[in-house]
Amino acid sequence: MFGRVKPLDAILATAEKKGLHRSLGPVQLTLLGVGAVIGTGIFVLTAAAAQKAGPGMMWSFVIAGFVCAVAALCYSELASMVPVSGSAYTYTYAVVGELLAWMVGWALILEYAVAASAVSVGWSGYFMGLVKSWTGFELPLALQAGPAWSMHGVLPVPDFAVGVINVPAICVALAVTWLLMIGTTESARVNAVLVAIKVAALTMFIILALPVLKTEHFVPFAPNGWGSSGMGIIGAASSIFFAYVGFDAVSTAAEETKNPQRNVPIGLIGSLAICTVFYLLVAAAAIGAIGAQPTALGVDAGSAEFAAQCAALAAKGSEPLVCSKEALAHVLRSINYTWAGDLVGLAANLALPSVILMMMFGQTRIFFVMARDGLLPEKLATVHPKWKTPHIVTLMTGIFVAIAAALLPVGQLADISNSGTLFAFFMVAVAVMILRLRDPHRARPFRTPVIWLVGPVAAIGCIILFWFLPFDAKMVLPIWGAIGLVFYMLYGYRKSHVGRGLVETHETDTDIPPQPVPPIPGA
Ligand code: ALA
Repeated sequence: MFGRVKPLDAILATAEKKGLHRSLGPVQLTLLGVGAVIGTGIFVLTAAAAQKAGPGMMWSFVIAGFVCAVAALCYSELASMVPVSGSAYTYTYAVVGELLAWMVGWALILEYAVAASAVSVGWSGYFMGLVKSWTGFELPLALQAGPAWSMHGVLPVPDFAVGVINVPAICVALAVTWLLMIGTTESARVNAVLVAIKVAALTMFIILALPVLKTEHFVPFAPNGWGSSGMGIIGAASSIFFAYVGFDAVSTAAEETKNPQRNVPIGLIGSLAICTVFYLLVAAAAIGAIGAQPTALGVDAGSAEFAAQCAALAAKGSEPLVCSKEALAHVLRSINYTWAGDLVGLAANLALPSVILMMMFGQTRIFFVMARDGLLPEKLATVHPKWKTPHIVTLMTGIFVAIAAALLPVGQLADISNSGTLFAFFMVAVAVMILRLRDPHRARPFRTPVIWLVGPVAAIGCIILFWFLPFDAKMVLPIWGAIGLVFYMLYGYRKSHVGRGLVETHETDTDIPPQPVPPIPGA
């Protein structure tokens, strides 16, 4: 299983044959990255980060951004060497073999599909906030949010006092699924417009909130210290890491990129740099303007207790930042810029569905490549005759995303997504280092600088952030991994094309069966 490596040359040959039109340049790629990255993380989870770390969340943004930057440098080397679809899954297949590639692909389901759920819930908060601000209408609590979950022993137990089902989140997830099924992909132009909307909203937020910053709001700076699992500055970094997820969407577009060897690294690092600057300014402005208001600090944000404290405060008419489901709009309304709060809400409502779309699109692409490799049933990747999309896998993904969005709070979804993403990033960092040793002479159009520092730092950074995730999110990865392992043993191990001596030569957007080729030496 470990010996089943898909040779880099075979992967590259597949990409050559597919002949996707290479149309994306460095600016479009950077915009693609920014489009996939800015979303629920900054618009919503700023509140959760403030709850965990207080003003110290500024450090959390720096730490999470730093880990992503070193991971992006590793991603860039592989993305420039293997500019094909499938992201971390494909790289791992080429370097450390099928079993780990399967596990990475399996973990990427957490990254992409669960992230799509988290963003759906984030959208729901902003949507309900905007509707309330404009019309005064409020859905019953039971239909606005899923239940709060708390662990009783090893079992998660729902508490329906704070919500039962998140109806707006289901609606947006299914609407995006429908768009994807009928073949909507976001054109570069639409993406550019949405990026402009998000950047304009964040810029307006900074311009209005930064001038009313009060230095006393930064004291105490780190009320929960550096951290324990799910708390403190590093605990908040583990959660806010979600705000940076998505930059790897750039690498999945490598096959459609002009001069990918140069442009993919520019797109990855450029989008990350732009987002980091915005996030730091937004975090400083949010905390500085109204403070973390540490009323509920110390209680787990997903817990029923936390929800009860927030409900009691809301009943008194003083909702603190840490309780808000629409953090940035809340800050602006609190400093008497109601119109600006509504505008930020509108921007989030317009732009977040595109993040959901990108996440779900990334998910279907990864399923597609895995099915192409024989690790998932090829039927899943059947292309609809009229829509020309993998409608079955898209619908399955959409239903999964909608169910998770209906029943879980945004913070827990983001943490679960982070656990899968951190595993994938860790594997990418390891893969780069292994490939340097194993195949030192292969052309590397982009070389990760000081790899023997950057690689280990990226890998260790991922481990540390994973370690500081809340316990339940941390446990999801091994449980999910065990389920994946069983699935692999029962299906992928026997059906794998590499294992059967087949290497596909068909295109991703057709369902022509793979052609047999001579066995690969060493496979
Ligand atoms: N980074 C993306 C977001 O914050 C997933 O919504």
